[in-house]
Amino acid sequence: MLRTHYCGNVDENLVGQEVTVTGWVHRRRDHGGVIFVDLRDREGLVQTVFNPDLIEIFALAEQVRNEFVLKIRGNVRVRPEGTVNPDLKTGKIEIEAKSLEILNRSETPPFVLEDGTDTNEDVRLRYRYIDIRRPEMLRRLRLRTEIIRTLRNYLDEEGFLDVETPVLTKSTPEGARDYLVPSRTHRGQFFALPQSPQLFKQLLMISGIDRYYQVARCFRDEDLRADRQPEFTQLDIEASFIEEQDMMNLVEGMMRSLFATVLNEPLHIPFARLSYREAMEKYGSDHPDLRIPLELVSIGDCLVDVEFKVFSGPANDPAGRVAALRVPKGGSLTRKEIDDYTRFVGIYGAKGLAYIKVNAVDQGREGLQSPILKFLPDGAIETILERTAAEAGDLIFFGADKARIVNESLGALRVRLGHDLGLVRQGWEPVWVVDFPMFEWDENENRWTPLHHPFTAPYQQDIEKIKAAPGEALSRAYDLVINGSEVGGGSIRIHDEQFQLGILELLGIDAEEAKEKFGFLLEALKYGCPPHGGLAFGLDRLVMLLTGSESIRDVIAFPKTQTAHCPLTQAPSDVGDRQLRELNIRLRERRTTDAG
Ligand code: AMO
Ligand code: AMP
Repeated sequence: MLRTHYCGNVDENLVGQEVTVTGWVHRRRDHGGVIFVDLRDREGLVQTVFNPDLIEIFALAEQVRNEFVLKIRGNVRVRPEGTVNPDLKTGKIEIEAKSLEILNRSETPPFVLEDGTDTNEDVRLRYRYIDIRRPEMLRRLRLRTEIIRTLRNYLDEEGFLDVETPVLTKSTPEGARDYLVPSRTHRGQFFALPQSPQLFKQLLMISGIDRYYQVARCFRDEDLRADRQPEFTQLDIEASFIEEQDMMNLVEGMMRSLFATVLNEPLHIPFARLSYREAMEKYGSDHPDLRIPLELVSIGDCLVDVEFKVFSGPANDPAGRVAALRVPKGGSLTRKEIDDYTRFVGIYGAKGLAYIKVNAVDQGREGLQSPILKFLPDGAIETILERTAAEAGDLIFFGADKARIVNESLGALRVRLGHDLGLVRQGWEPVWVVDFPMFEWDENENRWTPLHHPFTAPYQQDIEKIKAAPGEALSRAYDLVINGSEVGGGSIRIHDEQFQLGILELLGIDAEEAKEKFGFLLEALKYGCPPHGGLAFGLDRLVMLLTGSESIRDVIAFPKTQTAHCPLTQAPSDVGDRQLRELNIRLRERRTTDAG
């Protein structure tokens, strides 16, 4: 070992002793003939002092620059009065250097290593190895380790077996595009990287593993957002001979242990439970942030006959919705703020954002203020005030359109208002969202698609009844949402081959295609498949939540950008003609930039 102690662990207990520390130069200061070097390693900073009487060492110390790698031996002593730094773990002491070795030099780093850096993220990702030297990055990666360790321990104790599943495999339908890998030995054929270990974990249940988990890398070629990466990590779980409640109990116990261990904060169990329908109705979202005390209410039924087409149109459309969102004390919002919110809901396709300011509730329309009042009959106004429980000083926003647009726009507005107006409650508010529809109708493709994946079991066991009204079937799926983040999702699975075939058929996958795509699963279902179910956590999202990070990239050591590119390695990149020939691949075109 080149050192006796981590820099960050040298404290007043070591006063009078000789220590050797190694690390990076955080800062060098020259003070009236004395040189101070703050040396940093992953545990923290320590101040070292170089006196001019040690001529050679002092001369060497004059050469060091930021991020040089040093080895310093010296005596720990108490800092002189007035120079104690209470913000630093090592702030009471300093090391009086007796020897100095420059282990390596460094170019001037491309950005200053401090927390809350405003350096452009592309630069941070290009030099990620330097970015990770920053304490806030280190803290997140440490917490990530601790989270994974805690979850593993919990599952190990519950008798789960950690089984690895292949990464070079066949497509697993989780709703995204696949990343493909060409095969050299099977010309013209491709592996798909797994979108999740879904099918393999089901096979492991057929194998009698009974309780499985894996920290699994998943790959999805989809549009990226602040909480999505093309390559991410799941804590994937499956168990046999269980029902929904068993999986929920397991997960609640595990989450409680996680929050207690990592944050020392209590989680109340059992978690709240919300049906998908109720979630959409009240929050316009299937991953609602329950810390925000704002709710949507439907008012379409009282607007069927109004003249105002903006409202009566969607009120008469079975796929439409008219909803109101009461903002307590929102009456003080300015014209400009309302215009900003109108532009904001426009992002989600809303064509406008009607509103009513409530000055008084007991004076009918006289107490209200709004450009749309003239279009609304007294009866409608009364119902709106009643359902929103509006009070003097409030403002009511309205959304009227296809239900999807109203839910997305008012759902997002609800969250935005919650933050803007400081209404978000402190603490953790986990909720299970259950009773999802099995299928949703895809207008573009003209067919039913699964809301989760096609192996999810419905409550209804009669396949003919499901086929007669696919839009009404509810699934035995459950999503875990904490503070508005969907951190996990799972379901009880179909374990009957014929039933699985029926569901695939409903999804427009005929027997032949089913055999080609999932033949191995269908065959396995014939050999004694136990009833089973499971769940997968988005581990990165869980780490985001526990570290309070805004971006998923902040909790991954080497993430990709929003365009699924790695600024550090410059992946994806071109490959040579020889390699392509070997894989039997000819490119239709090279990127134009390649030519020049
Ligand atoms: P699902 O597709 O819901 O279910 O994924 C489970 C959890 O994984 C996280 N997640 C992601 N995290 C980061 N980037 C992404 N692109 C991304 N996509 C999903 C989410 C999500 O809740 N096989 C099923 C699970 C099961 O049924 O057991 C599955 O993968 O937090
Ligand atoms: P207009 O009749 O288009 O001038 O709209 C009158 C008011 O209704 C304005 O405040 C618009 O912002 C609002 N509005 C228009 N379309 C919608 C809609 N689809 N949902 C909610 N409000 C709307």
